[in-house]
Amino acid sequence: MTTVETDPAWLPDEALRGVGTRRVCVRGEGLLVDTVRAEVGRACHKFGGSDDADDAACDLLLKVVAGGDEGPEGFTVTRTARRTTLTAAAPAGLLHGFFHLVRIGEAAFTQGPDETHRPALALRMLDHWDNVDVHPVMGQVERGYAGGSLFWRDGRARGDLSRIRAYARLLASCGINALAVNNVNVHASETRLLTERFTEVAAIAAELRPYGIRTHLSVNFAAPLLLGDLDTADPLDEGVRAWWREAADRVYALVPDFGGFVVKADSEGQPGPFAYGRSHADGANLLAGALARHGGTVHWRAFVYDHRQDWRDRSTDRARAAYDHFAPLDGQFADNVILQVKHGPMDFQVREPVSPVIGALPRTRVAVELQATQEYTGQQRHVCALAPMWSEVLAFRPEGEGGPTVGQLVAGGGLVAVANVGDDPFWTGHPLAQANLYSYGRLAWDPTADADQLLDEWAELTFTPDLTGDPERLRSGLRAVLHGSWATYEKYTAPLGVGFMVQPGHHYGPSVDGYEYSTWGTYHFADRDGIGVDRSRATGTGYAGQYAKPWADTYERVESCPDELLLFFHHVPYGHVLHSGKTVVQHIYDTHFEGVEEVEAAREVWAALADLVSPARHTRVAELYEEQLRCAREWRDQINSYFLRKSGVPDAHGRRIY
Ligand code: GCU
Repeated sequence: MTTVETDPAWLPDEALRGVGTRRVCVRGEGLLVDTVRAEVGRACHKFGGSDDADDAACDLLLKVVAGGDEGPEGFTVTRTARRTTLTAAAPAGLLHGFFHLVRIGEAAFTQGPDETHRPALALRMLDHWDNVDVHPVMGQVERGYAGGSLFWRDGRARGDLSRIRAYARLLASCGINALAVNNVNVHASETRLLTERFTEVAAIAAELRPYGIRTHLSVNFAAPLLLGDLDTADPLDEGVRAWWREAADRVYALVPDFGGFVVKADSEGQPGPFAYGRSHADGANLLAGALARHGGTVHWRAFVYDHRQDWRDRSTDRARAAYDHFAPLDGQFADNVILQVKHGPMDFQVREPVSPVIGALPRTRVAVELQATQEYTGQQRHVCALAPMWSEVLAFRPEGEGGPTVGQLVAGGGLVAVANVGDDPFWTGHPLAQANLYSYGRLAWDPTADADQLLDEWAELTFTPDLTGDPERLRSGLRAVLHGSWATYEKYTAPLGVGFMVQPGHHYGPSVDGYEYSTWGTYHFADRDGIGVDRSRATGTGYAGQYAKPWADTYERVESCPDELLLFFHHVPYGHVLHSGKTVVQHIYDTHFEGVEEVEAAREVWAALADLVSPARHTRVAELYEEQLRCAREWRDQINSYFLRKSGVPDAHGRRIY
């Protein structure tokens, strides 16, 4: 791969020209106001504006006005012919407002109506699945496709933290305000981050703080036991409670604005309260109790299921597990517990229904977890812009028309994404995967934002320096490669919501039966007659019944189930006719041929942008398109051959299947 200096991502200097050419005045006090002042200073130095204009003479006034009604992170922009004024009730609002002005560029300085912006969700978080040590199987960043960790190196926090500061700046500029610095699977040395190694976390927190990002830590539920301090981790044991209280007190003594703990308990081998016959509420409330007096929060993950299932056992359905475990606990969690739920019931597949857990706990704060790192969506070797999928999730109404959207339901909990960055010069391995990080932050700020517009916004900022040659050709090329890329990926991978079919372990590339006879509960049940998982109430696992109406009914019946989720909810014959008018097997053939053709076309579009995009970026993406195409062909041929051999039904168009 080609190497470059650290990429400025969506904040190339050029994007700050609008601010940097003005006479600017910054008023207010506090760390985040100082950050804005420094940003303005740098921009003005670069572009010839002045950063010390007085109130009367400036064309851009940025000020904190105590008592304003924008809330802790909102801001108001007033644009008259003479001056643009940004006001915020608090420093964090000024920071977000500053980046808003950067984002809209020259439009910030044209007269227009006053606008007030506030984030819809108070918590907009990234979870890093980073290990301090390099894990023998998972590497340093679990499911990471962008090099090593930004935070940890050679078994400790990095000495040079400047890149973390640059990262914090990128995150703040798209609205993110919280971050967990280590993997949810907390191994031995990471367990000590909570105790004697917390100073390393504090050093990272110091780099994130000036950009308004609160630091969180993933903790091991059995820490008191594993660290040798106690002989139990029972959440109802008084000694255990005292241990966690003391641990939290030490944490807050060093990091007073510490955000809280992320916990994966009784999940995929991580310890939890079940070992003591206690519930997840007991476990979460133990940690919540320790954090409460400091204002901290517990992010308790709902990703709990039996990963040692017998594939012969058709009564256990992994999709049901989170709801079965957590819905009965509604009302039992402390106020500072957030239940963190993956957006779908399985595991970040290219297509899943929205998790029924999200609407099922009205008395619990719920956050939705997305996966920006592309574990199952091409591992940052394939272009797969996920904003359209995330928008669908956030717009879903668990109670149907008239009920609240997922975006509204998580207002008290927030939105979380598993991060997709590493120490790669482009941050995300695939340069176009930056769009996922950016659009995630922007959707967390406003879940109703239009996904394609966010992708365009990302492209406009990122490619600002390249928009001089033939901007319209560049814009339309970028739209062509990004907008439909999720749909394209879906076409050439597992069909109609059935999921998986990936190579076991690393999850890259096709293996139709890779997980079919495994313990992981991720089966498709294809035989010579048909395929899919019967999750109906009437004849299947009953999962469809975990939804409220109308969805319980919509998904229950083959006739009303949407095509794209048909095989998630039903086992049907290959000849079953979809709403689209095609049979299931013909749909499989057609989408797999189309998916590859779409990758071929996208690769050509990208190639034709060579004269418009900086060589390092162009080359990296062009190289990755070769791999995407190779892999897409592999998917097409394995899937199509598999279903031709199983079903014996030839392709209606007589194309080559092996
Ligand atoms: C997936 C992923 C794991 C991860 C887990 C989780 O199963 O493959 O690497 O630990 O999700 O979300 O906890």
